[in-house]
Amino acid sequence: MGIEEKIKRLDKQIDEIRDRIKGLEDFKTFNEVFDRSTLLTLYKLLNKGYIDIMYGVIKTGKEANVFLGLDRNGNRVAVKIYRIATSEYKNMIKYIEGDWRFARIRKGKRNIVFLWVQKEFKNLETAYRCKVRVPKPIAYKNNVLVMEFLGVDDIPYPMLKFYEPENARKIFDRVVEYMRRLYKCNLVHGDLSEYNILIDENEEPILIDFSQAVPLDHPNAMEFLERDVRNICRYFGEYFDVSFDDVYKYVTKK
Ligand SMILES: Nc1ncnc2c1ncn2[C@@H]1O[C@H](COP(=O)(O)OP(=O)(O)O)[C@@H](O)[C@H]1O
Ligand SMILES: [Mg+2]
Repeated sequence: MGIEEKIKRLDKQIDEIRDRIKGLEDFKTFNEVFDRSTLLTLYKLLNKGYIDIMYGVIKTGKEANVFLGLDRNGNRVAVKIYRIATSEYKNMIKYIEGDWRFARIRKGKRNIVFLWVQKEFKNLETAYRCKVRVPKPIAYKNNVLVMEFLGVDDIPYPMLKFYEPENARKIFDRVVEYMRRLYKCNLVHGDLSEYNILIDENEEPILIDFSQAVPLDHPNAMEFLERDVRNICRYFGEYFDVSFDDVYKYVTKK
């Protein structure tokens, strides 16, 4: 195939996926998020049936945007897209270096972001396998991660930060149990707080945002674990007495 034909074909693919991104025209960073290479990545995920349409913005974050979509069978999915141009990829490096799973780092902003997404996907797989409630990972490619949508109808579950617990103790016990299960599976979340916990309709917590999670032999793993425990104790300390030492011991108990 000649180069012109190739470009024509890519343009067609881009038009096709663009047609399937609905109602986001007013989304203020549309062009920043949906650059040409991201559109082609989405096209590939579309071709495999993981995404059929995208029709809602769930959240605009510092590095990534989360969108609501439907897969080929009409199931809701959450699509997390990392922006490449404006990513804080330098922050990512310290979580990737020291993680034996990603020892062979290829340098460059794009590659770091792609690796970051791959890491988030693998971490979600590990957590899911270890019976921690997380969004079920579905697929990833380049800077795009597709996962189970957590919510009712089109409304995502609230973050713990913006939720008024009826039974804070129950949520706390569950979160601590999940930290323990992660630890047993050799993983530390690394950014655990009321911002990365969603609460479902039965007041059950769900842990999200696993991109920065690291295995226990990462040089900073224990520092990250301590910080996670501190965050959880700080949050729940508003509701009842919690002891950092007790939680830490429980989580790391053999
Ligand atoms: N699978 C999901 N289902 C529903 N909402 C989600 C899902 N994943 C993330 N969100 C929403 O998007 C927000 C940002 O996602 P998160 O993974 O924490 O990214 P960030 O790196 O921007 O913090 C979350 O606080 C949550 O409200
Ligand atoms: Mg987050």
